[in-house]
Amino acid sequence: MTGKIDHTSHDEAPVFPSAEFAAQSSLNAEQYRAMYEQSIQDPETFWGNIAQELHWHAPWSRVLDWQEPHAQWFVGAQTNVAYNALDRQVDSGLGEKRAIVWEGEDGEIRTYTYSDLLEQVKRAANALLTLGVVKGDRVTLYLPMIPEAAIAMLACARIGAVHSVVFGGFSVSALADRIQNAGSKVLVTADASYRKGALVPLKGNADAAAQKAPILEKMLVVCRANCDAPMQPGRDVYWHDALERASSEHEAAALDSEHPLFVLYTSGSTGKPKGVVHSTGGYMVGAYLSTKTVFDLKAGDLFWCTADVGWVTGHSYAVYGPLLTGASVLMYEGAPNHPDWGRFWDMVQRHKVSVLYTAPTAIRSFMRAGDEFPNRYDLSSLRLLGSVGEPINPEAWRWYWRVIGGERCPVVDTWWQTETGSIMLTTLPGAFPAKPGTAGLPMFGVDAAIVTRDGHDVEDGQGGLLVIRKPWPSMLRTVYGDDERYVKTYWGEITGVYFAGDGARKDADGYITVMGRVDDVLNVSGHRLGTMEIESALVGHASVSEAAVVGRPDELKGECVVAFVLVQDGHTVDVDELRRHVSREIGALARPDAIYVADALPKTRSGKIMRRFLRQVAAGQEISGDTSTLEDPSVLERLAATVAQ
Ligand code: WTA
Repeated sequence: MTGKIDHTSHDEAPVFPSAEFAAQSSLNAEQYRAMYEQSIQDPETFWGNIAQELHWHAPWSRVLDWQEPHAQWFVGAQTNVAYNALDRQVDSGLGEKRAIVWEGEDGEIRTYTYSDLLEQVKRAANALLTLGVVKGDRVTLYLPMIPEAAIAMLACARIGAVHSVVFGGFSVSALADRIQNAGSKVLVTADASYRKGALVPLKGNADAAAQKAPILEKMLVVCRANCDAPMQPGRDVYWHDALERASSEHEAAALDSEHPLFVLYTSGSTGKPKGVVHSTGGYMVGAYLSTKTVFDLKAGDLFWCTADVGWVTGHSYAVYGPLLTGASVLMYEGAPNHPDWGRFWDMVQRHKVSVLYTAPTAIRSFMRAGDEFPNRYDLSSLRLLGSVGEPINPEAWRWYWRVIGGERCPVVDTWWQTETGSIMLTTLPGAFPAKPGTAGLPMFGVDAAIVTRDGHDVEDGQGGLLVIRKPWPSMLRTVYGDDERYVKTYWGEITGVYFAGDGARKDADGYITVMGRVDDVLNVSGHRLGTMEIESALVGHASVSEAAVVGRPDELKGECVVAFVLVQDGHTVDVDELRRHVSREIGALARPDAIYVADALPKTRSGKIMRRFLRQVAAGQEISGDTSTLEDPSVLERLAATVAQ
């Protein structure tokens, strides 16, 4: 752990929900307090009651079994997430309601009712079974934001296969690593995807990844663009052929509550990305309750979570959460600036989106593009806005509230992580005033605290480490194939509590402001990247002997990637080639903004790189802190001069 938790606070005036919004919202402050109190004092009763709102094929014998740090929720119960998201809705009369409204970047629109979606998911489930996928098998999905992504996820859930969605922006190597690590024999991909008017060749990447991932046996290929990708006989099957041949009858498997629902790879401070494993029952209950309460969903809402299914937000709030609550979801394939920065607002107007959930990076980009884009459109259908993925600066918060929300829509800033499965901190929209830049209060069952490195509570207003002291239903269960890493990473840093890397502070009202990572994880445009991953990509290039990567504050992306490299004897460094190399190894999202060639790195006498100083150098700041432990403090001056050039 490194320290950068001493941010100064700046108090923002609270923004109250309108009387109109508060009157129609499902929870007021008093109700929240009573529910929160019960969820902490008597979690078994609280979660047992919430879970009863969903369908269980067999009941639990106990709500929680906690053998720190391993939790089992709804012990012995059986259920199925896809059944709850689809069959249950159709059975309760929502068959003709819109489940997914999808818009391609090229303007194509498709609408699936709950009945349509159920039929597709049943066919896809049968198609997977035909390919030999059985309960417990991992299936990797490398797909664009098209309805088939949600259908494939739900089809896996239906048969008890464990999906592992890999973001379409990841490179061949990153995809191959994830396929191999999860042991997936089947990959679902698409021929291509539209992005900024061009075609992204997903199938080409998948073919190249298959060369590096010998475990892979079958590929199911959705035809999104031209259907002209080369197909390998015996291995590749078109999605539409497989679904057409498959029966539309399928009964959802009754799965143990603790059966894994999905693996999602995410970056940490050390080693390769880890496969975060989520459960069936607990995740379902967490995604369901948070969607319902945070987004205050009503029957007529059209909910648009702009996150890609490649990230956890796309899992919990573009697919599972909203479908579990019977909502209508808008899904969009492409870039926010295609054909121009008005694309989102045009879509809000045309589809009459009522709840919009997006990321601070996007908001800052819209802000920079100018008010004229949103001002061209009628955004009066919006009634609630959300933010996720990184700290939102008060200026961006206020712009979002004023220009997009017309000072009418509450803005919920939601803090959570891949590991937490669902929203952990927020300001419930109708119940409390929001403080711009501050996530807010803990969600139900979340026993959050701000502590020192040795686990003692810090005083209100002081910076510290954000920890969770009790298990919650949607928490990760383990790291795929490496339970020891789970125990050590999440429950071993600070004794007896969950800690996953953020610094925060709490004010006198109990509102928590999350200030950012205190470990070696970068948050670039809301995407998590480990410095180690980028460093190992860099040293994998023949011209680099050593590399150190840090984040530099960036107005648009929150943070950008800065690398310092030492040149391998006998080579010269081509900075552009190195940047391309990182893109090839991980994906364009990890490409360093700057690469500096150095003659040495700031190391302690024991050889540890002091990233703290490198961060200061990268940001062009004065060096502060004790440099006496450095083997050669003069390194910093030379690096600073290089950066300043
Ligand atoms: C950061 C995304 C401040 C945080 C759901 C966390 C936030 C990491 C917020 C998880 C927020 C997410 N305010 N920081 N509202 N939301 N973060 O796993 O550093 O992709 O640890 O999950 O994003 O990123 P992940």
